[in-house]
Amino acid sequence: MKFHRSLFTLMLLAFAATGTFAAAAGRGGFRPGELWMDEKGVPINAHGGGILLHEGVYYWFGEHKIEGDAGNYAQVGVHVYSSRDLVHWRDGGIALTVSDEPKSEIAKGCIIERPKVIYNAKTKTFVMWFHLDKGRNYGMARAALAVSDKATGPYKYVGSFRPTQGVLPLSFDSGAAPDPDRLKDRKQFSEAVVAGDIVWRDLERGQMSRDLTLFVDDDGKGYLLTSAEDNLTLHLHELTDDYRGFSGKWTRIFPNASNEAPALFKRAGKYYLFTSGTSGWFPNAGRSAMADSIWGPWTALGNPCRGTERENATTFESQSTYVLPVPGRPGEFIYMGDRWRPKNAIDGRYIWLPVEWENNRPVLRWHAEWDLSVFTRHNAFPSTGKDLTDLH
Ligand code: DGJ
Repeated sequence: MKFHRSLFTLMLLAFAATGTFAAAAGRGGFRPGELWMDEKGVPINAHGGGILLHEGVYYWFGEHKIEGDAGNYAQVGVHVYSSRDLVHWRDGGIALTVSDEPKSEIAKGCIIERPKVIYNAKTKTFVMWFHLDKGRNYGMARAALAVSDKATGPYKYVGSFRPTQGVLPLSFDSGAAPDPDRLKDRKQFSEAVVAGDIVWRDLERGQMSRDLTLFVDDDGKGYLLTSAEDNLTLHLHELTDDYRGFSGKWTRIFPNASNEAPALFKRAGKYYLFTSGTSGWFPNAGRSAMADSIWGPWTALGNPCRGTERENATTFESQSTYVLPVPGRPGEFIYMGDRWRPKNAIDGRYIWLPVEWENNRPVLRWHAEWDLSVFTRHNAFPSTGKDLTDLH
């Protein structure tokens, strides 16, 4: 009885210490799939997101969704939240706002997906890339850029791109002129895609770019990894030194393998990838891959999920969006995924799981509730002493 009373007191104290604490992240941990509240008790609205760690503060950027089907289109913009512990999040408002000007590329009702932000030390600016599109067929397939000198924004829209117009990828046989009929012939289609006929098709206009992610390597080089070639092949583009354009060095990864939702991370000098297959808003079986060099060759490692048949077939009902390195715990990562709810987009949920390692392969297991103590080492959250109120 005595024990119970003190446990209860402890719980009350913990609750008091965290204030209006996050429902999906109660008592300093995470509850994947449950509603996750910000500091003020409002559900976090940052889908298809990514996280930037800058000067001891985490910034979570994601698609702001509204209710219903309309929420699958950008009615508001890119939302940003900040946190010191990854559990309690402060609403930083709309970092990039859609335009009321109908002619704008980012006019209200366009498609803004998977925003990611990286910090460029040379220009001291924050650089956001996202997938820009219009209409249900996602025909634009462009990578779009916005910049800000403050992490939380406001971000200024710069423009959108079809990467590397007129530039062939690394290790490409420029003498292998494509036969225009091969892509039209079902029997020859796969062979043609693998050979790069879609690259040739899109060469002058520039390559497609839909689901995308950003990655900054230890040497400061920035990369944009994106689903291209009608979502059949991933393209890895090296960014220019200011991260605002493409250097022209690029390569194809897994031609004709239909990967979406890429998330790239590095552990002990090796590069890892989580991706999904392509099934619209429906979840599918996740995939993983590894490479010694970011330029490949990439080796497929298979489905990273270690759950029930259904969980493995649906990546625990989620689609990857980002893999977050846990600071102070080298080699430890958090998988971030989305459980989409396209009929009521705002109700999409966040699936965060610790990345576990099995024979040097990243794997995921379901944890209904977990916290950072699953990562065994210490000093995860070095403090800069800055108050979050200074940041918004
Ligand atoms: C899957 C993508 O990963 C999402 O970002 C979104 O584009 C949906 N398809 C749309 O169906």
